[in-house]
Amino acid sequence: MRTARTARPRHYLMCRPTHFDVVYSINPWMDPTKPVDTPLAIAQWEQLRRVYLDLGHTVDVIDPLPGLPDMVFAANGATVIDGRALVARFRDDERVNEAPAYHDWLRDHGFTHLRTAGFVNEGEGDYLFTGEWLLAGTGFRSDPRSHAEAQEYFERPVISLRLVDPHYYHLDTALAVLDEKTIAYHPAAFSPGSHAVLRQLFPDAITVGDADAAVFGLNMTSDGYNVVLPQAATDLAAALRERGFNPIGVDLSELLKAGGSVKCCTLELRSA
Ligand code: ARG
Repeated sequence: MRTARTARPRHYLMCRPTHFDVVYSINPWMDPTKPVDTPLAIAQWEQLRRVYLDLGHTVDVIDPLPGLPDMVFAANGATVIDGRALVARFRDDERVNEAPAYHDWLRDHGFTHLRTAGFVNEGEGDYLFTGEWLLAGTGFRSDPRSHAEAQEYFERPVISLRLVDPHYYHLDTALAVLDEKTIAYHPAAFSPGSHAVLRQLFPDAITVGDADAAVFGLNMTSDGYNVVLPQAATDLAAALRERGFNPIGVDLSELLKAGGSVKCCTLELRSA
């Protein structure tokens, strides 16, 4: 039976891929010898932004900075819950200078409850909020000590999950929150213990196989009804429709060359 779903308007922050390129490799998808079509990346990103605006969401943009080709992946800049912002601390030198830009943008847009993480913490790349719990990834990027730090800061229970496949190096490449009760995930991306925890907390989760995971199908955003995801993830789209969600496919093939897609481009700003 199909569940009736309700969309709730969202407030997102995005960063135009003006300076997007793949010139270094910090995850297995990035091959600096492969050409990147930056104008195409910009057009695909504009299309994603248009989809959000047409759905009635608010989309703010942060100015892209030259020399920071991965800054388009706004999800990594911070985690924002209840109007409190925990700004990222990046693992890799190539990305560390993005954090102050996100910090200053948030400060200048009324986020007074603001702190930069003390441990490596790649924002919503590794922190996904269900409305009740924060699901937190570790294994490749965010330091497990950042999980305890986030729990103290947000005063929300943090569920620590270990990623084991380098292709799924951020939690948002292997798991998506669809609504307060529903998640989707790729079981093989998790350690046996973390997989068992997910099974216990989310017995009705949508599980996603290799093919849809490899096209970054799980790197999707949901407003509770509309789910924006990579269009190549066709089985996942069918599973979402079956559960009463409205899947909307988009093509972000250029950004995939850096190991990112829909969710990576989208930082949710949750007010108090
Ligand atoms: N090239 C970027 C990196 O490896 C991609 C980040 C993708 N963002 C995400 N939220 N998964 O850091």
